[in-house]
Amino acid sequence: MDLTHVEAPNHELVPHRGIKLIKGTHDPDDVDQIYDLEIRDSDVFVVTYPKSGTIWMQQILLLIEVKGDVTAISKLSSSSNAELVPWIEVTGSREAFITAPSPRMRVTHLQYQFMPRALSQKKGKVIYVARNPKDVLVSYFYFHKLANMLETPKDFDDFFEKFIRGDVFGCSWFKHIKSWYSHKDDMNMLFMTFEEMIQDLKSAVERISSFLGKDLSDEQLASVVKHSTFKNMKKIPQASYEHVPSHLFSHQMGRFMRKGTIGDWKNHFTVAQSERFDDLFHREMKDFPLSFTWDVTDAD
Ligand code: A3P
Repeated sequence: MDLTHVEAPNHELVPHRGIKLIKGTHDPDDVDQIYDLEIRDSDVFVVTYPKSGTIWMQQILLLIEVKGDVTAISKLSSSSNAELVPWIEVTGSREAFITAPSPRMRVTHLQYQFMPRALSQKKGKVIYVARNPKDVLVSYFYFHKLANMLETPKDFDDFFEKFIRGDVFGCSWFKHIKSWYSHKDDMNMLFMTFEEMIQDLKSAVERISSFLGKDLSDEQLASVVKHSTFKNMKKIPQASYEHVPSHLFSHQMGRFMRKGTIGDWKNHFTVAQSERFDDLFHREMKDFPLSFTWDVTDAD
């Protein structure tokens, strides 16, 4: 997150036009003005439901921009990549965006209807990263323990129910992905999955770089890949949010870069929860031709 304007946490989710915002992190009036932002062709928005690889894309975009020279990123920010590729919806970020130099690279968890309408006139570029929602749920459960601006879950079962109801920041995973996916042809959009990035990071980086119209040598691309692996990102405090102030993250509760795998839900869901989730998934996604990788064995 962009930490400059985040206030002391108070855990309150504020309903706003069908979604939920975090009090102290988002200002509803400011969020509403995002719709009218002027967009440059060089603007890039990474769109994710929380816990779908936002931090990963921040690192990849920055590395592509500096042609794989990882030391160049640390010269731009000593604290966090989120300073360089901030959330557009965090208070203060929209205003800074207006006058920021190109290329303006931003991330967002907002649903489609809140984002600049100019995106649907094929201005700028959008990269949507989707992750299988069972793993999202588990990752989000642990993130709620770490992040002080979100309420610590009572237990996994309680959080499971909240997620299913969409009673979390980001709201319903289903609504989020459907709101964006149904407009994908109106925008310059690259649709990717977290799982394909895990399975073949090199191809994913090549796709992203070519979508952005960047011309990187094989060596430069290899460097982007090298410095965006889970193992290597963990070693870079700016890339792994290790420097996020302790009033925002209780670092003793765990690491933001937690597991970085496919299928951790199997260690958390009961059989009944998994069946319930599958039913919901099939009901919600029946008109959307999207398939997900739910387990590492699916990937072989
Ligand atoms: P886990 O909690 O399952 O480990 P976001 O930035 O959207 O909040 O997403 C965070 C999730 O992405 C975490 O998932 C984190 O470990 C994972 N992640 C971040 N960088 C990654 C990388 N390079 N490779 C694999 N997973 C990564």
